[in-house]
Amino acid sequence: MSIQVVILAAGQGKRMFSTLPKVLHLLAGKPLLEHVVLTAFKVSDNNPLVVHGHQGSVLQETLSNYKVTWVEQKEQLGTGHALQQTLPQLDDDAQVLVLYGDVPLISETTLKKLIETTPPHAIGMLTAEIANPAGYGRIKRDHHHRIIQIVEEKEATNEERALNEINPGIYFVPAKYLKKWLPLLKNKNGQNEYYLTDIISLAVQEHLPIHAIQPAVIEEIFGINDKLQLATLERFYQRQQAEKLLRAGVTISDPTRLDIRGEVTIGNDVSIDINVILQNVRIGNKCIIGPNTILKNVILADGVEIKANCIIEDSEIGSNGVIGPFARLRPGTILEQEVHVGNFVEIKNSKISTASKINHLSYIGDAKIGKSVNVGAGTITCNYDGANKNVTTIGDNVLVGSDTLFVAPVIIGEGATIGAGSIIVKDAPPHALILTHELKQRSKTDWVRPSKKKEEK
Ligand code: UD1
Ligand code: CA
Repeated sequence: MSIQVVILAAGQGKRMFSTLPKVLHLLAGKPLLEHVVLTAFKVSDNNPLVVHGHQGSVLQETLSNYKVTWVEQKEQLGTGHALQQTLPQLDDDAQVLVLYGDVPLISETTLKKLIETTPPHAIGMLTAEIANPAGYGRIKRDHHHRIIQIVEEKEATNEERALNEINPGIYFVPAKYLKKWLPLLKNKNGQNEYYLTDIISLAVQEHLPIHAIQPAVIEEIFGINDKLQLATLERFYQRQQAEKLLRAGVTISDPTRLDIRGEVTIGNDVSIDINVILQNVRIGNKCIIGPNTILKNVILADGVEIKANCIIEDSEIGSNGVIGPFARLRPGTILEQEVHVGNFVEIKNSKISTASKINHLSYIGDAKIGKSVNVGAGTITCNYDGANKNVTTIGDNVLVGSDTLFVAPVIIGEGATIGAGSIIVKDAPPHALILTHELKQRSKTDWVRPSKKKEEK
């Protein structure tokens, strides 16, 4: 059986009040449509077909990493019309799974269950019972409890509106029936739209069974039409992620103050304090993540401690590293084991080897720092000459005095000691003491500190 997923995403999303197409708004740092595309690949090996409206090029650019077949729906004439646009792309013997670009949390589990339990020649669909069904199409059943029709709210009688079983809009239908039925749809209804929901009545007329299952959790079928729904679903998703981590043994100070985006894997005996954002992060065992910290595309080996208020991006931290508080590690930072980076230190595109320490107020950019180097407070690599970035190389066991400037490119031999306040403009030999200016310290013993003059009246 070949499964073809179709994702309808041509609606413009007026209620988002945004120039960004609705399906590109982010949930957990990822466009809504991307969530659905990723799920589509989990249930079918075929490239999903995505029906788009205007701004199709923006969608295509955003999802350019995925093998998606784009189908344009020039005018948004309804869900039935949208699906109709894909008919030329559908193999006659395919089974079509219809999803929505603005229903991001539909799960692989529920979809696989729908696919596996729908008998051949039946129409599979989801339904759900909800307390407040307003806005949804309602499911009508006969006295044998068989589904016979979906009534849109606009056309529903008061009696039908009182029905609590709703249509999430997700169907699993043989392509050959869609090819037969979609051209038959009429738009003679309250909205002058071609309703995909009308295929249910057509199936019933042909005595085909309608097979319905329910989603594992109700939030799976929630669609996003406005920012309130987006924020609500985001919080649900985050709660789910936090619960998953808690069940896996991660200590989380407050599950409502942790945000997980992308793929996050966390080892044993890890604790995470409040207000932390983790995006595509791999954390080893026995790590501590302090409060108010953002880690994005980061790998932490075992035993790393990140103290409060750190921002770390595209970096790797070796085992037993201690970072922060208030450290900023920018892309390309690689720290070997037992490196300490303290407060108000910024590091970019640099490799710091085992057991080196940069503890206070420094900027390290485009540098290679050896083992057991101690970088004093206020050290700056002057890596940019106004045109190019240049490298600072510091050997093992170098002691860098406070307030040193390295005017790159420059190489410091191992074991060298650099006096405080030096401005290093050329390479220095190993094991030497390097001083760049004579210190003439004077003491005037007869000097009197000025006192404030009395104001004249
Ligand atoms: C639809 C269903 C309704 C169901 C609800 C679930 C129909 C007629 N009604 O109603 O029974 O309860 O979804 O949320 O199907 N779209 C297009 N092109 C169009 C129109 C829509 O691509 O011309 C896409 C939208 O981008 C959206 C999806 O289809 O992702 C659903 O469209 P929407 O207008 O929100 O349908 P509803 O009126 O909510
Ligand atoms: Ca909708």
